This record gives sequence, structure tokens and C-alpha cells, in this order.
Amino acid sequence: MRKLNLLRKIVLPALMLLGLHAGAAPMVSSPDGNLTLTADVRNGKPQYSLQRGSETVIKPSSLGFVLHDGSFCDCFKLVNVTRDSKDETWEQPWGEVDSVRNNYNELALNLEEKKGLHRKLRIVFRVFNDGIGFRYEFPNQKNMDQFRIMDEVTEFAIPCDAKAWSQPTNGTKYYEALYTCDPISCKDTVSTPMTIEMPGNLFMAIHEANLTDYASLNLTPRSQADGTQVLTAALTPWQNGVKVYAKAPCVTPWRTVTVSDTPGGLITSYIALNLNEPCRFDDVSWIEPGRYVGIWWGMHMKDYTWEQGEKHGATTENTRRYIDFASKHGFKGVLVEGWNYGWDNDWTVNGHEFDFLKPYPDYDLKGLQEYALSKGVRLIAHNETGGAAENYENQLEDAFALYNELGINCVKTGYVNPLLDNRELQHSQYGINHYRKVLETAARHKIMVVNHEPAMPSGLRRTYPNMMAGEGMRGQEYNAWSDDGGNPPYHICILPFTRGLAGPMDFTPGIFNFENKAVPGTHPQTTLAKQLAEYIVIYSPLQMAADMIENYENHPALTFIESCPTNWTKTVVPVAEIGKHVTIARKDRDSENWFIGSVTDETPREISLPLDFLDKDASYKMTVYEDGPGADYKTDPYPLNIRQETVTAQSELKIKLAPGGGSAIRLIKI
Ligand code: NOJ
Repeated sequence: MRKLNLLRKIVLPALMLLGLHAGAAPMVSSPDGNLTLTADVRNGKPQYSLQRGSETVIKPSSLGFVLHDGSFCDCFKLVNVTRDSKDETWEQPWGEVDSVRNNYNELALNLEEKKGLHRKLRIVFRVFNDGIGFRYEFPNQKNMDQFRIMDEVTEFAIPCDAKAWSQPTNGTKYYEALYTCDPISCKDTVSTPMTIEMPGNLFMAIHEANLTDYASLNLTPRSQADGTQVLTAALTPWQNGVKVYAKAPCVTPWRTVTVSDTPGGLITSYIALNLNEPCRFDDVSWIEPGRYVGIWWGMHMKDYTWEQGEKHGATTENTRRYIDFASKHGFKGVLVEGWNYGWDNDWTVNGHEFDFLKPYPDYDLKGLQEYALSKGVRLIAHNETGGAAENYENQLEDAFALYNELGINCVKTGYVNPLLDNRELQHSQYGINHYRKVLETAARHKIMVVNHEPAMPSGLRRTYPNMMAGEGMRGQEYNAWSDDGGNPPYHICILPFTRGLAGPMDFTPGIFNFENKAVPGTHPQTTLAKQLAEYIVIYSPLQMAADMIENYENHPALTFIESCPTNWTKTVVPVAEIGKHVTIARKDRDSENWFIGSVTDETPREISLPLDFLDKDASYKMTVYEDGPGADYKTDPYPLNIRQETVTAQSELKIKLAPGGGSAIRLIKI
């Protein structure tokens, strides 16, 4: 009897966990035991499911492909499983935290087709405390030399019709739609990250990590009679319908599901970085986070032009003015758009006319860079391609060699044309390989990249830390010219939980002058204090002060931007409701100081914030930049109150936010 009990209570559960007893589906749990993944082959079909304790996060979901010669998802036998685990901590050269723990348990299914060509497929699952990643591996084998993926049939079966934040794939260019929050069943195909809130404080985000030589992930929902919402992978195709051209051995990107019991936990999860390969560079000393200004907003406000002419913005004289300003106020970089040949015709369709080496006659490239360096500032070269990828690739080596020789260590790339080379979608395998070529070439020439109209980031910054920031969202520029008045107040309250989960955002905060003569009625739908708070809430290692410099001179709010770091040791998200408000606190990488940003949608709020994340035995001189009396994003964005007091970890702040408002707080350790 005792032996039977021992078997039932100890041995069987242990075997279950290891997935070893006859007929049991292999299982693997997170290191803390909170998440459990089950993976198996049923009737020839590989599938997986995920539990958090007793709750179902993902119901049994199919895995596999359709290849050029037919199904590669319903004909498998499980040959064996292998297991592994890891617990390591690695340092980020820059980031929102200084070190990242990579702690997971791994289970891999080794599969083989039961008949026909007997091709092999391996599916590797990693289970972290805060989510899972899995990918397909095509081992080296006969019969898989040169194959075409026509569809990936990976599914995520969500147990109920939960509400989710996403943007539609179809009809959206450059990932620049507003995120909507609606039940999954109401959605068309969406791009990732997709963020889902399920009952029981269950927040999850689906995305991908290490997108290399493959097509971008989208998800198509399908409702089942029992309410289950099945999201199926929909890869961005080549024009001929093929999704991916491949050759074994090869691997797919990781499919990631971050799981948290708070919205903030999604932001402070780093599983996507852990699923990318370690840094490839021996020397990262040339990679410098920091702040920059630029000849940019002036063009979007139509005060300047990119092209040559009377209002040309990128003149030698104007650029010197920006360099002087940057030097005086501690900005590291000056972005200059419209400095090179190619803008004079309709550049969005004539991208092949861009010359990345030849400055306009009124722009002294060499002299300006020398001047900038003498002032401790560097120019950021703008490379708008108009989507002409081949034209850019043909000039890459020479252009980047020139920039490096001049001392320019950063380029902002742009692709205003959703079809690269008027042919292939930006987020197809063609586009993904182009963006990678640019990144790798830039790295060889010690150049950092800020990518507009980009591939959705997938954590590559771990491997290539010159991948600084990207757009891939409705950025500040919509507050200059969109015909819907600008980004709505809730936009910034959604971005950190959606686009922000993919990687650093070049949103370009910091508009101080809300007048818009070019498009009356369109302007930032925020208060001035919220513009400051965005420097903390929207993470980027390179932060732009986006306004024209004349709007900054002698403005008291500039002192916040001047003091605000862009590189952090710690990040915490003490309070948040997706789409409504979010408060993020970050500790400076180079000091003991903390910065807090708090933003709201159109609803005014008072947020209680215990400062228990501060050092226990220290005092801090706190400076608050908050909405002043009467501040309101609709009627008067300008009132700004700046006040100081001394606080400790025992203090509790009351942060008052106006409609569309924000608060930016600096805490200097005494
Ligand atoms: C769109 C980019 O987002 C913006 O920053 C840039 O100024 C224009 N394209 C022109 O390249």
C-alpha cells in the first residue's frame, strides 16, 4: 500500500513533469513552476498548449508549415524529445536595464515525416518565468535543399474572446496605424506585437524574436463555436505569393508569448532579447546613447523644405545654428534631413535619384562635420531611400565609409514607399534581408542606425547593438500633418504595451510650440508636461528634442530634457492601465538618480505613487514638471508648474495629470 502511494504521489508526478511515462505528452515548466507548456504530436500533427497554474493561457494549438509540395504539418511522428535549461545573466551595452537574466527550461520535439521523403523537423520550446519562445529548426538533410514555405500554420488558440490591442495589417503602411482595443473576434489580420488582456489579471503579448532571413509575422483570427479565438500565423509574402525561400539547415524566428499578471510586467520582460544571439561585436565603445536635435520639425511644419530652394532647411548656416544650440545644451547629435541630392522630384517614387554621398551645393558636409566635432557634437546623416533599396545598397559601402571617415557615427534611414524597389513589401523576406544588410554594413563602419519605415523590431539590438531605435508607429510627425488632428491622447498610453514591446521607439518627443500654420487644428494632443513625460515613458537610447530650436531657447521646460538620461540601470512600471495611463520610473546608468514619467489619456487623474523603488536609506531632491492650473490638451496645453521637494523611499507621491496631461519627475540623490 505504501509503495502504491509513493508511486502515485511522488514518482508519477515527477515522471509526468519530465514527460517520460508511457503515452504522456511531454511537458516543460518555467523555472519558477508558474507556466507549464505541453507539446505533442496528435494524429501526425505537432501541437502545444500553455498553462499558468490551473489557468489555460493557450489551448492546444497546431504547429507546422505548408511547403511548395504540400503539407508539412500533419504527417509527423515524434522520434524523441531533448531537454535543456539555462540560467545566465548578461550585460547590455545600453538599454532600459543594465543586465538581463536568461533563465529557462527547454523542450525540443524531434519529428520526422512518417512516410514519403521522411523529412525532419525540430521544434524547440523555451519556457521562462515570464513567457515562452518557440521556433522551428530544419536540420541538415537530403530533400530540404532549396525549399519554399508557402505558409506557416503556427496557431495560438486563445481560450476566450479577450480584448486585445493591435493594428491591422491590411491597409496599414509602415506600422503607422492607431492601435485599437477590441475583442479578438472583431479583428482582421493584425501585425505583431499583439497584446491581449484575459480575465483573471492575465496579460499576454504575442510577437517574434530574431527575425532573420524570413518574413514578418502577422496573425489572422478565427472564432470557434466554443468561443476559442485561434490566431494563425500569416507571413508577409513576396509578390509571387511565396512566403520564405529557405535551405536546410536553417531556423525560423522565435514565436514569443509574454505572460504577466500586470500590464507593466509585459514592459519589463526581456524574453525577446534572450531569444536573440549575444552581441557580435568585440568593441562597443563607439555606440553612444544620447540626445539629439535636428533640422526636421521645420520641414514637417512646412517652414523649411527638404529639396533645394528658398526655404531649404539643410543649409550650412542653419546647420551651424543647430550645432551651436546642441553644443550649448548638451545634445550629442544634430540630425540633418535634406542635405543630399535626390529630394527635388517626387522622391517617394523616384528613390533611385537619391545620392548618399553628394551634398547639395549650399551644404558644406565636410566643413560642418569638422565644426560639429570642434563643438563636441556629431551630425546624424539622414538617408531617405524612397524605398529604392537597390540604389541604397549600391552606395552603402562608399557612403558609410565616407561618414566614418568624417566622424559621423549615426544614420537615420527612411523608406517612404511601402514597396521596396516598387516591387516587394517592406516586411517580406526581401525587405528583412535588405534591412539586415544595412545594419551589418553600418556595423562594419562603426555606424549606429535609427530606422524609419522599418521592419518591426525583434530584439536584434542584442546581437547588433548599433540597432538603436526605429519608427514603426504613428510618431510625433502625425502631430504636424495628419488630417485627424494628430495622435489621440490615448496613443502614448498604448504604445509602451504594444509597439514598445518590440524595441526602442524613435517617437521624437519634445514639441513646445503647439501652433501649426501648415495644418490648422493639427498639433500634439497632449499638454506640454506630457511632452516631457514622454522622454521616460517612451524608451529609446537616442532621444530627439524634436521641436525647432527657436522654440527651446530660454524655455524653462528645456531643463528637464537637458537633464534626462537615455541609458538606464533599472526600469519599473509601478502603475498602469493599458490605453488609460502609465507611470514608468527609470534609474540613470551614470548616476544614482531616478526619473519618473507619468501620462494619461483624455481623462484627468490623480495617481498615488509609493516611491518604494528608491534606495531605502537615501533622500532625493525631487523636481516635478507637472500640468499647471488650467492645463488641458484641448484648450490650453501650456500651463506648466515646476516645483521641488525632498523625498525618500517612504514617501508617497500624488501625481496630478490634466486631461491629455503628464508629469516628468527628476530625483537627484542627495
Ligand atoms: C518619414 C519619416 O518618419 C520622417 O522622420 C522623415 O522626416 C520623412 N519620412 C522624410 O524622410
